[in-house]
Amino acid sequence: MCGIFAYLNFLHPQSRKKILQILVDGLRRLEYRGYDSAGIAVDGALDGERANRHIHLLKQRGKVQALNDLIDSCTDLDFSEELSAHVGIAHTRWATHGEPSPVNSHPHRSDDGNEFVVIHNGIITNFKVLKQFLQNKGYAFESETDTEVIPKLLKYIYDTTADEKLEFWQLVERAALQLEGAFALAVKSRRFPNDLVCTRRGSPLLVGIRSMDEVSSADRVPVLYSCDQQLGNERVQLGKVPGITTYAPDNERTPIEYFFASDPSAVIEHTNRVIYLEDDDIAAVRKGCLSIHRHKRIEEDENMVRSVHTLKMELQQIMKGNFEAFMQKEIFEQPESVVNTMRGRINFEEGTVTLGGLVSHLSEIRRSRRLIFIACGTSYHSAMATRQLLEELTELPVMLELASDFLDRSTPIFRDDVCFFVSQSGETADTLLALRYCKGRGALCVGITNTVGSSISRMTNCGVHINAGPEIGVASTKAYTSQFISLVLFALMMSEDRVSLQPRRRAIIEGLRVLPDLIKEVLKLDTSIKQLSAELLEEKSLLLMGRGFNFATCLEGALKVKEVAYMHSEGIMAGELKHGPLALVDSNMPVLMICVRDGTYTKCQNALQQVMARAGRPIVICQQDDEEITKLSVGRQLRVPPCVDCLTGILTVIPLQLLSFHLARARGYDVDCPRNLAKSVTVE
Ligand code: UD1
Ligand code: BG6
Repeated sequence: MCGIFAYLNFLHPQSRKKILQILVDGLRRLEYRGYDSAGIAVDGALDGERANRHIHLLKQRGKVQALNDLIDSCTDLDFSEELSAHVGIAHTRWATHGEPSPVNSHPHRSDDGNEFVVIHNGIITNFKVLKQFLQNKGYAFESETDTEVIPKLLKYIYDTTADEKLEFWQLVERAALQLEGAFALAVKSRRFPNDLVCTRRGSPLLVGIRSMDEVSSADRVPVLYSCDQQLGNERVQLGKVPGITTYAPDNERTPIEYFFASDPSAVIEHTNRVIYLEDDDIAAVRKGCLSIHRHKRIEEDENMVRSVHTLKMELQQIMKGNFEAFMQKEIFEQPESVVNTMRGRINFEEGTVTLGGLVSHLSEIRRSRRLIFIACGTSYHSAMATRQLLEELTELPVMLELASDFLDRSTPIFRDDVCFFVSQSGETADTLLALRYCKGRGALCVGITNTVGSSISRMTNCGVHINAGPEIGVASTKAYTSQFISLVLFALMMSEDRVSLQPRRRAIIEGLRVLPDLIKEVLKLDTSIKQLSAELLEEKSLLLMGRGFNFATCLEGALKVKEVAYMHSEGIMAGELKHGPLALVDSNMPVLMICVRDGTYTKCQNALQQVMARAGRPIVICQQDDEEITKLSVGRQLRVPPCVDCLTGILTVIPLQLLSFHLARARGYDVDCPRNLAKSVTVE
């Protein structure tokens, strides 16, 4: 969790005000990763002479806006001073060790003189031992965080190795060797003015590069790049020292800017050229030159390089536009995002499906013992929503696992298992740990991720990018429907050769073809759902009931209501009604039921009658031309267009996404940043 953003300008003068602005804007883009406090470190002092010798820290509890207000009210900084080279680091936090407060916020420091300051994402699991060690050496700690051991350790190493004259990156490397757990971190020091060092292990970190030459003329790409035609990516040319890659503008006097961030969304407005750092890479910028260092491991190739990727996302893709919130924008984007998931992958005329990332692994998957889907939260629900179809079309046993529980049980995994890791962010700690576990046991690991370059995308043997576009709202919406479709596509691809399944496959492919239009129709329910949310506003609880293809919809809808509207909500398998949940039903209990014409239709009608017999007046999500429900039901109905049974889950979940959104807005909550939650949960 937490967001890291650092900005380094070299021979590219910026006023201190502009630098602060860039840092705060970077944090705003990362705020979805955590937002209980934020902090910033820049070179300070009103006296320009001392500017490079003093690091100024500003930290505030609350959202990034609170930090911005603190900066605005700061009288200790000369905002107008032009700094031709400078390093600023910034952080938005989601508390794990120590409550949200200025002292627990990052950057953390080595001492009162702010000699080394650090921002960190992740958890240092051995911090207690390190803290004890440093306390014994006389270091006084001021926060309750695990992070504070890092700057103190850096100072300790610096002070005790003075005769070795270590470079900045070497200090960080020595400190990182002592750290256990997951981290991405950026370090600034007044001992190494205008230089910056970052490293990562298990938490994402990337470097954006903007060179003035490149901006002014696209064909004057710095000479140190060489082009890899095959990948379409440029590669950073090798440095002379084995295992070290370097990037430098054509001569060291060229202006350049670097942006270090946990997520490309913080960088894209400045540059689309990024390098994704790998675990244990140490990226250092010295006098405007970037070098990437790592301890060479036996199995590693000496000619290692880090590619420069060109980000394809546009800034407008991550802006809110005319919508009230990102969540709302993302709900309404679904007619397009589902098309993007299918684009280039379905041939509607021939009825074929090709997932480029899985083609070469298909026969191995077909030969496997079982398919295991491992995920958390909404991503888990997407696997549940498609399980029945996966069983039907792959004819293999399909298991679903919540990543945390899967790990708790040390589940047996075999070499002929195929394990799928479903994750919007591709960074969820529990899912990543499960991936390491399965990889270690020799299973084929397949990623279903939205984030190209994410840890899951890189660590899996193969996979599918769901291509839903950046999802900013903490509550996942469009990623769910795109994960759903990706898994349907996988099931279709697996069954391509099965003659008996062709009519079924054709019906599903036709369903996918019309799906975007059907979604548009569902979105027209927005006004009536807003009205419904006003009626449910004061309720304490909401029960969502369904079965078959739509049980997952109930769980996902209930999760959305909990996440953003803070209302108790429970997804109930309608088949279990008489085994307990029916006791909750009376005339006061709000109930919503999903009843669509699929294999469970009659059973769902029975459940509806059971609820009405206990004086319940359920709201029913049913299909547009369903007269039986009109006659049967006494409550309000939300009607979605009919479609092939295994895709109804997409059309029935959207009203629930809208309902949770409107309930949250009506209750006055910030839907994009629900309390106590974060978009990317990179801690266990
Ligand atoms: C790829 C290109 C896409 C291009 C298309 C044209 C990328 C990221 N995608 O899409 O821009 O339009 O070819 O043919 O360059 N992978 C994993 N784990 C994951 C997700 C993916 O290992 O969690 C791997 C896949 O196995 C594959 C690669 O990443 O090797 C790209 O996957 P994906 O984007 O889904 O492939 P295509 O749809 O073929
Ligand atoms: C968090 C998010 O809990 O992680 C959820 O708030 C999400 O929306 C879950 O479903 C899993 O995340 P991911 O990125 O692995 O799909």
